[in-house]
Amino acid sequence: MKVLLIGAGGREHALAWKLAASPLLTKLYAAPGNPGIGEEAELIALNIADHRAVADFSKANKIDLVVVGPEAPLCAGLADHLDRAGIKAFGPKAKAAALEGSKSFTKELCAAHGIPTARFAEFRAREAAKDYVKQHGAPVVVKADGLHAGKGVVVAMTMDEAIAAVDQVFTMSEESEAPVVIEEYLEGEEASFFCLVDGEKIAPFASAQDHKRAFDGDRGPNTGGMGAFSPAPAMTPAMELRALEEIVRPTAEALALAGTPYRGVLYAGLMLTAEGPKLIEYNVRFGDPECQVLMPRLKDDLLTLLLATCDGTLDQVSVRWRDEAAITVVMASKGYPGDYASGSEIKGLERAAKIEGVTIFHAGTKRDGKRLLASGGRVLNVTAIGKTLKEAQTRAYRAVDLIDWPQGFCRRDIGWRALAR
Ligand code: AMP
Ligand code: GLY
Repeated sequence: MKVLLIGAGGREHALAWKLAASPLLTKLYAAPGNPGIGEEAELIALNIADHRAVADFSKANKIDLVVVGPEAPLCAGLADHLDRAGIKAFGPKAKAAALEGSKSFTKELCAAHGIPTARFAEFRAREAAKDYVKQHGAPVVVKADGLHAGKGVVVAMTMDEAIAAVDQVFTMSEESEAPVVIEEYLEGEEASFFCLVDGEKIAPFASAQDHKRAFDGDRGPNTGGMGAFSPAPAMTPAMELRALEEIVRPTAEALALAGTPYRGVLYAGLMLTAEGPKLIEYNVRFGDPECQVLMPRLKDDLLTLLLATCDGTLDQVSVRWRDEAAITVVMASKGYPGDYASGSEIKGLERAAKIEGVTIFHAGTKRDGKRLLASGGRVLNVTAIGKTLKEAQTRAYRAVDLIDWPQGFCRRDIGWRALAR
């Protein structure tokens, strides 16, 4: 099978790495990819925002499956375009991708189908939002609608923070003309739950936890994710069953009933509260960096599973996991998630990757001749498996310490929540 993978981050490197191991694969292309993905796939300089170009390339090269990594092309209708062109694609069409693209779409769907989530209100006027916050008090969560990769969200613990957050998020939103959402604060442990979904058929995939805050001890600003581990001990089998039956299944059924069935991986960001799992948000793709810890643990062939999702045969597949735990430490450019400099040189990756159980996924790198340079906020995902999470963590940080990149930083405590249990 010939596969085209869309995307350029650490998530896509992990997908490429796993797809490349598939016995079904004859050729893997990636667009636009990155230097790490280039070790697994032939990189194609396609503008992925140009859906016709993606379809034309797929036709000309007899691509059997297009795997779309990130949310932006899905929300923009890439899967719709490929479907019309008769090309098989893994990832939902735009109407179903609104689960991630529009918080208000998801909130309304939850309200209509009794899916547990935080109470919310939507505002287009700054003063009305402030009045609402003053009435309801802190803690409270202020979010920009639309796609902000976790960065358009402020969890305000005090009233002063809440008022400042309304100002900050309104300023962000005015640029995108999106409404501001104010949400009830949910208390509990967060977990990411992934399911393969095709219409009303659902194959629960796995759980993971990520660390969203920039600094040790889960402090500092929200980021796209500074590290992750899997499995997530907080996600017990009983909790997983509730999340499946109370959240994911009613969502899949509602979309199918509306004539916009979901096809792809559905990522439920959950808060495990005292009352049970509640939905924080949906994503319509694998998590980044969660995918980087799922792929090394997946025993079964990824390509078979992605094809089954597209072919309506999800009820015939098995999804099996290795007993080992996996962890990934994100190395980011100093300054991330704020301003950071690009172009600094990274050395020592070969040495670090030799440590037992370690695989290094590239997220934001570029080549300059023989040199490897940083070219983004999140730059490397130093990933390790081990018999225990502790072993995986020790291996990952041993590898981190062999990487010579003074302009980078990472958290030193990835996995602490699970290890402290
Ligand atoms: P989101 O982009 O909606 O996933 O939000 C980013 C992060 O903000 C989440 O991963 C949570 O850590 C936090 N968060 C979002 N909504 C809530 C909420 N209602 N209660 C508590 N924390 C939240
Ligand atoms: N790790 C969070 C995300 O992928 O959205």
